[in-house]
Amino acid sequence: MNLAHIHLLLNHFPTIGTIIGIGLFLVGLAAKSDELKRASLVVFLGIALITLPTYMSGNAAQEMICKGQTKGPCTDPGVSKALIEKHEGAALLAFLFMEFTGAFAWLGLWKFRRAARFPGAVLAAVALLSMVTFGLMAQAANIGGEIRHPEIREALQAQAAQIEGQQPLGRAVASFVIGKTWMWATCETLHFVGLCLLFGIASFVDLRMLGVIKGISFKALHRMLPWAVLGFGINLITGMFFFVAAYDQYTTNTVYQWKLVLIMLAGLNVLYFTIFDEPWEVGADDNAPPLAKFVAASAFVLVIGVIFCGRMLPFLGKAF
Ligand code: HEM
Repeated sequence: MNLAHIHLLLNHFPTIGTIIGIGLFLVGLAAKSDELKRASLVVFLGIALITLPTYMSGNAAQEMICKGQTKGPCTDPGVSKALIEKHEGAALLAFLFMEFTGAFAWLGLWKFRRAARFPGAVLAAVALLSMVTFGLMAQAANIGGEIRHPEIREALQAQAAQIEGQQPLGRAVASFVIGKTWMWATCETLHFVGLCLLFGIASFVDLRMLGVIKGISFKALHRMLPWAVLGFGINLITGMFFFVAAYDQYTTNTVYQWKLVLIMLAGLNVLYFTIFDEPWEVGADDNAPPLAKFVAASAFVLVIGVIFCGRMLPFLGKAF
């Protein structure tokens, strides 16, 4: 099994998952069921996470098919590099909207935990963003299908002539990041700012669950979680700039693949601390339940693992 298999395995999740999320959301609105609305927001959040490896494994599939060629037909006859890059550009836009949908879904879940109701503005944002995301995702998936299915596309020559001279979004972003000398350094700096926010707040929450600073209730710390999520958002955006600009450095780097797996697992931990009843009920001077302690300890290991893998990228795996 290689990374192209992973792309083929994952690539329908973002489209189908968004439809399921929208369906649950609409039924939740119609039935005035907060539980269904919550379920739909969890689905959006999960799909936003899965879209990350879906996107990244796409570049790995491209590398396998085209073997690093930059123009013209790929090693595999009948596959157009230009069409793959068009698919990449469409996927990048869909990815962006999916992540915004996930961010608002998380905000809705966080607010619901605090106030036992959803703010109308957040629900409206989720409704709008998820529908736009679905349209963009379906378009990206359709172009992805055209790469290998001649029965659903125009003749390659006609497509190539149509695409000729256009720079798809992914490659335009890559040229910008590589072309501006200040861009990489700025992203690196912001990546560290995001990391400090995320690690700092996660450490507070984890230490509290493990019995340090026991005088603070979890509700007080829960208030700080949006700052940690903001830190994650900064790192996601800056990290994507690195990835889109130089995906060949990352896709086949084992340390990078581990970093991605650890990020996904850490996402589950954030979900636990955002919505579950157990940690929410931990008052000042209370002992946290065993599961909360386990999640806190594993969060430490995961976040330190993410930092380690990030820092070791130039030294371990396929070093660059
Ligand atoms: C949101 C992210 C993405 C989604 C939802 C997506 C979806 C899809 C879909 C539905 C297919 C067709 C599979 C089939 O033929 O049955 C496909 C194929 C493909 N995608 Fe993506 N894709 C995404 C990101 C990317 C990216 C960033 C690239 C990088 C250029 C990429 C490269 C490819 C390649 C090369 C194929 C053909 C794979 C093969 O048949 O061997 N994808 N994608």
